Amino acid sequence: MTIKITDTVSWIGKVDWEIKTFHGEEYSTHKGSTYNAYLVQDEKNILIDTVWRPFNHEFIAELQQQISLDKIDYIVANHAEPDHSSALPELMKLIPDTPIICTANGVKSLRGLYHQDWNFKIVKTGDKINIGGRKELIFIEAPMLHWPDSMFTYLTEEAILFSNDAFGQHYATELLYNDLVDQAELQYECLKYYANILNPFNRLVDKKIKEVVALDLPIRYICPSHGVIWRDNPLQIVQRYQEWANNYQENQITILYDTMWDSTKKMAHAIAEGISASDNSITVKLFNTAQRDKNDIITEVFKSQAILVGSPTVNKGILSSVAGIMEEIKGLSFTNKKAAAFGSYGWGGESVKIVTELLQQSGFEVITEGLKVLWNPTDKNEKDCFNLGEQIVAAIK
Ligand code: FEO
Repeated sequence: MTIKITDTVSWIGKVDWEIKTFHGEEYSTHKGSTYNAYLVQDEKNILIDTVWRPFNHEFIAELQQQISLDKIDYIVANHAEPDHSSALPELMKLIPDTPIICTANGVKSLRGLYHQDWNFKIVKTGDKINIGGRKELIFIEAPMLHWPDSMFTYLTEEAILFSNDAFGQHYATELLYNDLVDQAELQYECLKYYANILNPFNRLVDKKIKEVVALDLPIRYICPSHGVIWRDNPLQIVQRYQEWANNYQENQITILYDTMWDSTKKMAHAIAEGISASDNSITVKLFNTAQRDKNDIITEVFKSQAILVGSPTVNKGILSSVAGIMEEIKGLSFTNKKAAAFGSYGWGGESVKIVTELLQQSGFEVITEGLKVLWNPTDKNEKDCFNLGEQIVAAIK
């Protein structure tokens, strides 16, 4: 499918309503996704990005409906990750000499992924090409938004920023534009995307946005590589990114736990009661890490001022679902958040110490050595859990 955005620019991507997980099994896509490619047709014709390999034949057939492939003057590869580049091998069989514009890191990634020596044209920030009249494509390197190779492409006169992964969402829609879709769904998917993918690069995101804002470019559309095109107040998503990149927090505490015979679960609920009793304006959320989607949990951690993480002791260690989510949390480099561990045990009782160490290694400010309960919590134990809830509230004040 092709949809005209302006007289010269068309969306020529793929809406993937069926995808359930992205990055292999790493990212849940409850709302599907899209792979957005764009065709710019002026005196020069430029294809910006492609789609994921399962859709390559469909994509090339659609592209051929729109333009004779030998009329494409340049392909811009804003980012080499296969969701945007893996139609290239089939496409380049048909137009092997067409220049591919990308960053120096883009060449490394594309060569590494496809083992082809295509006609690469390396660009740096500020490089530009004229595509007809006063219209130019200006390139802006954007390393780690999302890979070292990533870049933005800006089309002058039309005032369109092709931002690739930045400002995107895994959100399937046939409606194309931000103002046409369910706003709550859209905001959630943007936040989830940021929390799970971009959070480790907060500093680079903040720096890049400041750099782009300082260029004072008019922006009529932001065209990312996933999800909707931002045409209604397009800078709203830039402002959200600035908030998210700077120690973003809501008035929320999140409790993560797994449980075998409900002892640790009882502790989690008693802690939640202590939090609410201390300050009932705080949103408290509890997640059984074995039951809930890990990316949705990460989104809630991102929003939180503090987290509590509980596991019973099993085989001198912690339950695997807690270990798994802690590995995710560690990699995402959250900052400025408080934390504490809790858990039940029958003998041994190593879990609380292990979780506490994982929280410290993950950059959390751990407010207590944690709370261990032998066997099932007594009334006294539940009171201690309640007090831990009060303690975590005091710590975030
Ligand atoms: Fe949508 Fe980093 O690829």
